[in-house]
Amino acid sequence: MLNHAFMIRKMTVRDLDKLMVIENESFSLPWSRQSYEGELQNAYADYLVCDWAGEVAGYIGMWTVMEEAHLTNVAVASKFRGQGIARTLMLTQERQARQKGASMMLLEVRPSNQAALKLYSGLGYIHAAIRKNYYSDNQEDALIMVKHLHEDNDVDLISEHRVGI
Ligand SMILES: CC(C)(COP(=O)(O)OP(=O)(O)OC[C@H]1O[C@@H](n2cnc3c(N)ncnc32)[C@H](O)[C@@H]1OP(=O)(O)O)[C@@H](O)C(=O)NCCC(=O)NCCS
Repeated sequence: MLNHAFMIRKMTVRDLDKLMVIENESFSLPWSRQSYEGELQNAYADYLVCDWAGEVAGYIGMWTVMEEAHLTNVAVASKFRGQGIARTLMLTQERQARQKGASMMLLEVRPSNQAALKLYSGLGYIHAAIRKNYYSDNQEDALIMVKHLHEDNDVDLISEHRVGI
């Protein structure tokens, strides 16, 4: 579990320089800075960062429309991985989704991304469908995973660290 040097807070445009370094090291099809600038203006989008002493350690995004939330991306800087940051960002985002009235969270993941698959299945996401040839760099399929957001059973996991949203 995260120690108290970490804080989850809303993303701002001032985070984007640091975020883009993580984005480019984490994804073979990284989003552009302009995409993130647009997302920060999108009324349906919520973006959070995990802040470590002013440094962006990780981030997560989602869209919420009516009862459906959609995870857009989650990444953690390589030097901060393995400390529970992604799990904490996911749980915090799930709580926000519930508060906005969503009853399910959807996401896409590459079948080859074992770390992400273990993260999601450990949080209760299950395989729902396959999108064929989804990723344009290598035509890899996407697994669609879904989690039904019932009551907040993970409250103790989140409340052990600071959430400033
Ligand atoms: C996937 C990623 C977000 C995980 O971030 P993280 O902060 O290191 O993950 P956490 O420490 O919160 O780990 C939570 C769980 O995820 C799984 N996990 C995380 N990294 C893993 C790895 N390298 N191998 C296997 N399982 C892993 C484990 O089940 C872990 O639980 P445990 O520590 O109790 O075993 C990170 O590796 C990353 O940024 N990867 C590149 C971007 C990416 O693939 N994003 C997902 C796109 S769908």
